[in-house]
Amino acid sequence: MNTPVIDFLRKYADSGILRCHMPGHKGIINKYDITEIKGADSLFEADGIILESERNMSRLYGTKASFYSTGGSTLCIQAMLTAMKIDGRNITAIRNVHRAFVNTVALLDLNVDWILPEYSNGILSGGINHDIVENHLKNNGKTCLYVTSPDYTGKFADIKALSEICRKYDAPLLVDNAHGAHLAFMPENMHPIALGADICCDSMHKMLVGLTGSAVLHTSSERYASCLRQCMSMFGSTSPSYLILASLDLCNKYIAEDIRRDIAENMGYISDFKAKYKEFVLSEGDCFHITVNTAKCGYSGNEIADILRENGVECEYSDENIIILLMSPKNTRPDYTKLCTAFEKALDYAEKRDIHDMPFLTHLPEKAMNVGKAVFMPCEEIPVEQAEGRICASLKVPCPPAIPVAVSGEIINAECVEIYRRYGIKKVMVLK
Ligand SMILES: Cc1ncc(COP(=O)(O)O)c(C=O)c1O
Repeated sequence: MNTPVIDFLRKYADSGILRCHMPGHKGIINKYDITEIKGADSLFEADGIILESERNMSRLYGTKASFYSTGGSTLCIQAMLTAMKIDGRNITAIRNVHRAFVNTVALLDLNVDWILPEYSNGILSGGINHDIVENHLKNNGKTCLYVTSPDYTGKFADIKALSEICRKYDAPLLVDNAHGAHLAFMPENMHPIALGADICCDSMHKMLVGLTGSAVLHTSSERYASCLRQCMSMFGSTSPSYLILASLDLCNKYIAEDIRRDIAENMGYISDFKAKYKEFVLSEGDCFHITVNTAKCGYSGNEIADILRENGVECEYSDENIIILLMSPKNTRPDYTKLCTAFEKALDYAEKRDIHDMPFLTHLPEKAMNVGKAVFMPCEEIPVEQAEGRICASLKVPCPPAIPVAVSGEIINAECVEIYRRYGIKKVMVLK
């Protein structure tokens, strides 16, 4: 697989040319950090090396078109929702969205019809009832369906089934696949585009070898292939990082040459780990998201995470009930050996206690106004204990995973207060 962006950057850096252009560090910080000089193409008007690299990626993923983002999946989500606004669609969304979705809804003043998932222990993850989805699409006018899959714990939505329902109601299926860039290269292709999604975003920095901030917006649709780049340009910086673009170019080479071998090796190590701790490691979902239900065996996830840290392992996420260990195809056998040693220590030293299930929303909080109105009104920060009955302003979410409890414009109720408390959120922003 060729790497047009990297090749250009190398050639330019080696040429010894005098850089009478941005950036001001003149190559001292990093010789590949350049701006849009002649030959370097331009992200939002790509017709040269960037377009060539994007087309490489599109071929690897089997998409109609794939667009690079140097603003993470956040920028991709902004672009896909802009495309829905241009189409005059409202949004039907499964509630366990990332805050990037809610912020974009506010900026674009979109109308969201929420569907609560059937939560499984906390607000991060849950099953999707297809009959409920169908009902919403049937009654929701011109809409689209927005799904987060895999979610933060690695749980998959049934994208194939959802795409069939969406087709019935002429609703595009948008998938936040920020955690699933590797899925196209699993033994069976499990990528949302292969399973019928119209548009999806992949954070290449989460599961693949892209630099932080790298992501790709994929589409299977001719219609959206022609407008998504323009949509992205409305939110993206006019100075996209060439280091990030180069890392996307490198992802292509990695995917073409090594990823399948690395995935196969890691799947073996992960299944050994899961088999060893099968009484509390979730077996379903994406194998690279190792979600450990510590509470099931009477351990606090936060305490296990602390002991793992003392033993040289930092996890992606912990709360009182679970920890999430995020692996990738780039992990190696010694990593798993170290993880097992640290995990054994954690189980030896952690105290057994009574741990209650994490709370989740049983009903949507009452809506007082649209997200887009609430976000731009005067607000104040108050202690969570005083928040019941007040209207949520901007989002306060456990970070990561940045999944909202009450959404801006909703009235914070006792259930929300309890969720905030259990996720360690002490203050919330409410309307004055
Ligand atoms: C499910 C999900 N969607 C979107 C995002 C935003 O992605 P990025 O950080 O690449 O902008 C995240 C980030 O954590 C996420 O977890």
